[in-house]
Amino acid sequence: MDRISIVGGRPLKGTLPISGAKNAALPLMIASLLTPERLTLKNVPNLADVNTLARILRNHGVDLAVDGKRADPSPYLGETFHLTARDIVDTTAPYDMVRRMRASFWVLGPLLARCGQARVSMPGGCAIGTRPIDLHLVGLKALGAEIEIDGGDVVARAPRGLKGARVTFPKVSVGATHTVLMSAALAKGETVIENAAREPEIGDVAECLAKMGARIEGIGTSTLRIEGRSQLEGAVHTVLPDRIETGTYAFAVAAAGGEVELRGARKSLLETAFATLEKTGVDIAETPHGIRVMRNGGGLEPVTIETQPFPGFPTDLQAQLMALMTKAEGTSVIRETIFENRFMHVQELARLGADIQLHGDTATIKGVKSLRGAQVMATDLRASVSLVIGGLMAEGKTTINRVYHLDRGFERLEQKLSDCGADIERLVSG
Ligand code: EPZ
Repeated sequence: MDRISIVGGRPLKGTLPISGAKNAALPLMIASLLTPERLTLKNVPNLADVNTLARILRNHGVDLAVDGKRADPSPYLGETFHLTARDIVDTTAPYDMVRRMRASFWVLGPLLARCGQARVSMPGGCAIGTRPIDLHLVGLKALGAEIEIDGGDVVARAPRGLKGARVTFPKVSVGATHTVLMSAALAKGETVIENAAREPEIGDVAECLAKMGARIEGIGTSTLRIEGRSQLEGAVHTVLPDRIETGTYAFAVAAAGGEVELRGARKSLLETAFATLEKTGVDIAETPHGIRVMRNGGGLEPVTIETQPFPGFPTDLQAQLMALMTKAEGTSVIRETIFENRFMHVQELARLGADIQLHGDTATIKGVKSLRGAQVMATDLRASVSLVIGGLMAEGKTTINRVYHLDRGFERLEQKLSDCGADIERLVSG
């Protein structure tokens, strides 16, 4: 397995391009199951999770063509995918395929909506909590699906098609909102989703579905109204920039010091995280092409935050903020309210010399004067990248083992950082 080695202490300087959002690209690719026509997605990031999902979709009968290299000045412009699900040949997504990535479970709704049946293995993904699927199933049942669990698979049937309904989620769920939104686009009549997740990636999918012919009101709000169609059309859609990648690199600049323009980043996608970063003493400014993040010299102020669904502070940036706060001038408090087990980075940051106490869902981080490089282990995607941030701040060499987690969600991380002056390299195994 590859490792990443970092020698900390170098400030970051330059321009760092932000890729298309993983968590939008995945459901957008799945939306191709809803139409026999071609769905073209631009700015798709080159990630392990995207490749895993491509394999799963091909198994359902989706033809996938990827445009070749173009004469473009930016080597990072994402890929263009053409997905055509002319005929769905297999409505089963087996364990072996779904276990690697939780979002692959989201094929269930579109397959059911289009074919009247689907069998999808219960999902795997990052080990950050129990991550149930009850809300997905409640939503599909409200649209008229019959559902049973058989041998670890969810078996769903709607022989006469799905019918629009009112779905009120008792809890905000990104995945369950995607499931009902995509299914409702092919259901008969109107569906109203109440307490829908408002994450920008949901809005991106809703906009794509609207281009495909569904009528959708309330995009960006917690009430979505979807008027389904008996058939959806093809469309061309550009994946929005990755706000978690943006936030991660902004935190990395804050950690290492320096000044970097995050090209293609959109400030409106993560107001709360940027407000938090500004409280720590980091300067942030919008530029014509993105966002500039600056920390030159000054110390870091501690912060107190809790993770919340959008527009609150994202759970997907919790580990990165914690890494940054290990060297703040005082005590920070971070409460994780979304996933009950998303603190696996704590013990690894401790190897670098961080002082973090955990009590239930709350971490108390006492800033230390310095961190020292060490061998650490990547556990899940966002935890792994928090160790990169820790490594950038630490004196000496940090080696991160098991970096395949990073490759699931960060495109060419070591190259993007080294182009900005970080001393970072990938040690390829074997
Ligand atoms: C999405 O996961 C993201 N994944 C996650 O990003 C992100 O951390 C999460 O939303 C929260 O923002 C993708 O977009 C591919 P949820 P998802 O359903 O949809 C509970 C990353 O690092 N819940 O919003 O799985 C659940 O246990 C990943 O890129 C139920 O109780 O998250 C959690 O406590 C990790 N029943 C809460 O809701 C359900 O049926 C929010 O989960 C579903 C969820």
